[in-house]
Amino acid sequence: MQIGILGSGVVGQQLGIGFIKLGHEVKIGTRDSSKLNDWLETAKEKGSVGSFEETAKFGEVIIIATLWKGTENAIELAGLENFTNKVVIDVSNPLDFSQGAPPRFVASVGNSGGEIIQRILADSKVVKAFNFVSAYIMCNPKREEGMPTFFVAGDDEEAKKLVMKFAKDFGWEEIIDIGNIEQAIWLESLAMFWINYGFRNNNWVHAFKLLKK
Ligand SMILES: NC(=O)c1ccc[n+]([C@@H]2O[C@H](COP(=O)([O-])OP(=O)(O)OC[C@H]3O[C@@H](n4cnc5c(N)ncnc54)[C@H](OP(=O)(O)O)[C@@H]3O)[C@@H](O)[C@H]2O)c1
Repeated sequence: MQIGILGSGVVGQQLGIGFIKLGHEVKIGTRDSSKLNDWLETAKEKGSVGSFEETAKFGEVIIIATLWKGTENAIELAGLENFTNKVVIDVSNPLDFSQGAPPRFVASVGNSGGEIIQRILADSKVVKAFNFVSAYIMCNPKREEGMPTFFVAGDDEEAKKLVMKFAKDFGWEEIIDIGNIEQAIWLESLAMFWINYGFRNNNWVHAFKLLKK
């Protein structure tokens, strides 16, 4: 498939390489393509770079991997019409870095990042996923202590199935659909928990597993 990734940071770059390794074509969207010269060398012929608009047009599936503060602007630059009817994977976290680290959580129940993006992109199928682990774990989930759990939240069942299939292709084994897009708040809270643990313990390779028995 053609995967358009809005976001030139570590998430966009790691997911980009991950999707290319699975055989997909990836375009990363940015306002400054010079940031991605090294990435392009690694990505080779299945990778390309463009504006946010070119990337959203290119993507059959669009991934949102932008700084929360810039996300709405990135979507506007990408052009709302270029998201219509598409699966949109929201990897962003609603965080405010203006007061330094750790960042502040700026979402609330009913106003999660996922819900806000779904409201902006009312004609798209937004799935919250991948946001609760480091970029380096997203396509490489196996930990020394075992396999963590992957979660998705979104309103469209087929869209969630596609994202769950991608996760499986990346090697995630336990993949749980936790419900509609209103549940995104808990995946974003999980990300905040992940970040707090990281700062307190200076550990950035952790992930969560749901034990059921
Ligand atoms: N880092 C992680 O391991 C991790 C893990 C899970 C989730 N997340 C979440 O994933 C998202 C991406 O994280 P990241 O660390 O890869 O990168 P980031 O530094 O949070 O975001 C970089 C991207 O945001 C865009 N951006 C920033 N301000 C903008 C603005 N005003 N208008 C339009 N675009 C703007 C940048 O555009 P340009 O390319 O044009 O500069 C760039 O593409 C964030 O929401 C983060 O919280 C991160």
